[in-house]
Amino acid sequence: MATFTSTNIFSVYLPSQLGNSRRCFFKTSTIPIINRKFAAKIRASSTAFVETKPTEPIVVDKESSVNKKVLACPICFEPVTWIGDPCLSLESAAGSSLQCNTCKKTYSGVQSHFDLTTASGAKNYGESMPFATELFRTPFVSFLYERGWRQNFIWGGFPGPEKEFELMKDYLKPALGGNIIDASCGSGMFSRIFAKSGLFSLVVALDYSENMLKQCYEFVKKEENFPKENYILVRADISRLPFASSSVDTVHAGAAIHCWPSPSTAVAEISRVLRPGGVFVATTYILDGPFNFIPFLRPLRQNIMQISGSFTFMSENELEDLCRACGLVGFSCIRNRRFVMFTATKPI
Ligand SMILES: C[S@@+](CC[C@H](N)C(=O)[O-])C[C@H]1O[C@@H](n2cnc3c(N)ncnc32)[C@H](O)[C@@H]1O
Repeated sequence: MATFTSTNIFSVYLPSQLGNSRRCFFKTSTIPIINRKFAAKIRASSTAFVETKPTEPIVVDKESSVNKKVLACPICFEPVTWIGDPCLSLESAAGSSLQCNTCKKTYSGVQSHFDLTTASGAKNYGESMPFATELFRTPFVSFLYERGWRQNFIWGGFPGPEKEFELMKDYLKPALGGNIIDASCGSGMFSRIFAKSGLFSLVVALDYSENMLKQCYEFVKKEENFPKENYILVRADISRLPFASSSVDTVHAGAAIHCWPSPSTAVAEISRVLRPGGVFVATTYILDGPFNFIPFLRPLRQNIMQISGSFTFMSENELEDLCRACGLVGFSCIRNRRFVMFTATKPI
């Protein structure tokens, strides 16, 4: 459990603590340690929701210097030195840079984000990823993503972003008040919900697609009263996360695992960056049916998907096995038609 010593601390009450209001309320507090006890109810159906009734306030430490320590060099994983704007916010990437004293490499921020891919700064070297990654790098798909593309997931059983957030709150409880990485954030719909909830000390919206990050930046700029402090956009490969080991409280990956070039490398990376007790929560499409029980069909399907670089869908058993193989425990999931939300944690 995290211990907070900063003076910049807020208590955040979940809406359900305060009657029927949908708003979050902030209150200055000096409580140094979080002690959370919740009564919660999850119901999985096409109208799935979670009722979250914390009996104690969530304490959120928003100290920039603490949050900056999470960022690391994607080559050596050593913490980087932040040069520039003393604040950590959406606006601070432009004009700031991150320096790795071990690799002697500087990662400069552009207007919308920090590029923390390993090839960042390369002038002549270019690399293309499998189709499921490259597709989302195009300006066209990035533009369309929140303008119809994501809404179509409802046909597969996805409840939609707000309901998905309500649904995951129960899973997030052990890590509320800490930092959250929205891995493969796309144009950032969940990272924006996380930031506005006030339940996290730092929100990192991370994606490989520079165009998705630009879209996210534009959406945030258009929102009134968006809490831009402790909210940053980072370009990175899920298989090489630019965070110090055991430094992250929560990793969320919405509708993304089926797009990753190597789900096992990615989940192993997530496991590396999570602190003991840290939470991984993700959604994807389930692939059940004959592929699950006819022995030769499963490897055949995996091979075809891997070779073609297309989307990799898994069964519930495979997801659980993958988490376990990558050092995560306590797998649990909620399903609705082809939609699955699952969680697993880093052992304490
Ligand atoms: C279907 S979108 C999901 C967006 C969002 N999380 C959601 O819930 O709607 C999949 C995202 O995965 C990202 N992605 C694919 N390969 C990636 C990789 N190797 N590293 C990081 N992100 C990747 C894509 O750029 C895309 O934004």
